[in-house]
Amino acid sequence: MSSSLTKRKPLTEPSTDVSNPQNEKAQEPAGVAQEPRHCPSRKGLSLLQQLLVALILLAAGCFASWRIYGCWPFLSGPRVFSKAELSHYVGKSDSALYLAILGEVFDVTKGRRFYAADKGYGFFVGRDASRAFVTGDFEGDLTDDVADLSPEQIKSIVEWRDFYHKTYTYKGRLEGPFHDARGRPTGHLRWVEQQAARAKSAEEQQRELEAQWPSCNVRWTESEGSTVWCEGGAYPRKLISTLPGGSGGPAGASGAASAPGKTTTSRCACFEEVGWSDVRQLYAGCPPDQHSCKILEQHAS
Ligand code: HEM
Repeated sequence: MSSSLTKRKPLTEPSTDVSNPQNEKAQEPAGVAQEPRHCPSRKGLSLLQQLLVALILLAAGCFASWRIYGCWPFLSGPRVFSKAELSHYVGKSDSALYLAILGEVFDVTKGRRFYAADKGYGFFVGRDASRAFVTGDFEGDLTDDVADLSPEQIKSIVEWRDFYHKTYTYKGRLEGPFHDARGRPTGHLRWVEQQAARAKSAEEQQRELEAQWPSCNVRWTESEGSTVWCEGGAYPRKLISTLPGGSGGPAGASGAASAPGKTTTSRCACFEEVGWSDVRQLYAGCPPDQHSCKILEQHAS
């Protein structure tokens, strides 16, 4: 330590600024071979070269990871499970409990009171049983086939997926109908998302209609059947609404004809005005100025 201190040049010594070629030359002792300019120092790689090597190694690592996982590691590429791999995570020999929904894998070990093999929802583990989440058939529907479900049903599965994101640990993607072998979303998954979005917008529209025209009161007795009525001097009308989404499914169960890709529903709504139209129909046998109508049709809505 002290020797290095003694070798230190005094501040008064002439400048050795290498940017000044004259100075550089002045410092070289006679008879010593000059190092070629811009050559790497004999002490090791220059900073630039070290950076270059690091970059090359990084690129090689990224490429390997991309080949193996089909993803770029810095974009937190998810692990891609095969169905066989996922089937191992069923809690045997203290392994974790994983389940998949719409091709996304979650660690549900902390919910073992639901998902352990001997618990009520143990059948969801080690597989993608998206369909059963909405049909409730925990034997025949433990499958990822959702192609024939209504937009409302698909929306419900998407909500289950949201629940798993909020409650459990996301582990990666499952190769299958929703993600390819590299974990990339398939066209089928895009269709699923579209169906769910469609159902959501139909529900929002329905809620808006409900807020705009409040529903009638309904009473049913064995002797009189169904009666609808409105308070505050309003008039009951059968309101026909056509909403985007679905052919069949729960929202299409009104019995009214629906155009493809649309759902027609009807309900009794209260209107301030006495008028009526094709979408604001009078109840059969009920004069327009009545505030209460007996329903003669089979299904009051
Ligand atoms: C489509 C039908 C159904 C599905 C897909 C379903 C699914 C589930 C799942 C996945 C859980 C665990 C939630 C978690 O991880 O925190 C759960 C919990 C639960 N489910 Fe269901 N369920 C269904 C129907 C029902 C029905 C009809 C009942 C009641 C009669 C019910 C009662 C419960 C109860 C009480 C819990 C909490 C259990 C506990 O705290 O120990 N479920 N359900």
